[in-house]
Amino acid sequence: MAPSYFNDDNSLLNFVVKEGNGVKGLVDLGLTEVPGRYIQPPDLRINKQEVAGSLENVTIDLSELDGPNHEQVVKAIVHASETLGFFQVVNHGVPLEVLESLKVTAHQFFGQPAEKKAVYLKEVSPSPLVKYGTSFVPENEKSLEWKDYLSMMYTNDADARESWPNDCKEVVLEYINTSTKMVQKLLQILIGSLGVKLDDSRLHELMGFNLVNMNFYPPCPNPDLTIGVGSHSDAGMLTVLLQDGIGGLYVKKGDQNASVGNEVWVEIPPMHGALVINVGDSLQILSNGRYISAEHRVRTTDVESRVSVPRFISPLLTVKIGPFPELVARDGVARYKEVIYGEYLKNYFEKSLDGKKSLDFASI
Ligand code: OGA
Ligand code: NI
Repeated sequence: MAPSYFNDDNSLLNFVVKEGNGVKGLVDLGLTEVPGRYIQPPDLRINKQEVAGSLENVTIDLSELDGPNHEQVVKAIVHASETLGFFQVVNHGVPLEVLESLKVTAHQFFGQPAEKKAVYLKEVSPSPLVKYGTSFVPENEKSLEWKDYLSMMYTNDADARESWPNDCKEVVLEYINTSTKMVQKLLQILIGSLGVKLDDSRLHELMGFNLVNMNFYPPCPNPDLTIGVGSHSDAGMLTVLLQDGIGGLYVKKGDQNASVGNEVWVEIPPMHGALVINVGDSLQILSNGRYISAEHRVRTTDVESRVSVPRFISPLLTVKIGPFPELVARDGVARYKEVIYGEYLKNYFEKSLDGKKSLDFASI
């Protein structure tokens, strides 16, 4: 049973957020019903009927970029980015042992007693690069997400070794260092296909700010009333995401402006050894709307804990992002205004997640 004092907002937030027990701590108490603050309004719950199971084949074998099918693979990457904004890749360069080890490490981190994790709460964390927390911005959210996370900002390997949690740092560095080539290739393909010339220093700027999160979604006693992550798009250029075999990541398909109730959501099915790639807001802006920063969300389940490990690849905070001039000239219109990425991100984190509203910050 949920102790009834968790229906008092202060005690709940104290326990979950301030003391750093997280959702994991709630689950460990053995509750059979979620506290009221976790109940989503009906229109934000994930209604299984809305979910269209069919998903066109969006698994791309990146090793084929080096063979006779190069052009087809390029087309597939571009097509997926122009339509769903999501695809999966295999032969991506990240060794399978690293993927397995990331999942084990995430379970180990969140499996620790709260006091071990709480040292990384943002108010007390020994480093601004590391943050442990729960939900997205609990202070601003009417309903909380059923999710705990550990966020690690990457500046360079030495900083990471000095400040990231000991048990996570080597494997997360491996994840970053073995996925960077793929990320560069994908961005070169996507931006090159727009007819835009991208020199190495500009590419470096556009992918210069990196965060790796470990997300932990404990089993939930009321999966029909709650969400793991609310509907949102990612702010950066691309996200590389490792998910485990549990499933529950959904992407909005087709008309991005479909009214509530008329949306179609497709699941990105778990696929052993694959990584999920999605386009973020910055790439949508730079591409003048050609590439889709897809709205996505995560459901909860009552079965097992789910983990995921996204790497968010973003422009340096000081970089200006606006539609590439070549595209504005060709399209005859700039669909977004130029913004400084750091300001875009600040606004992103000030709001609670709300579909693609984050893009309003760059709207004309
Ligand atoms: C995110 C996200 C999806 C997942 O962290 O931005 O969309 O499957 N995560 O955890
Ligand atoms: Ni996301």
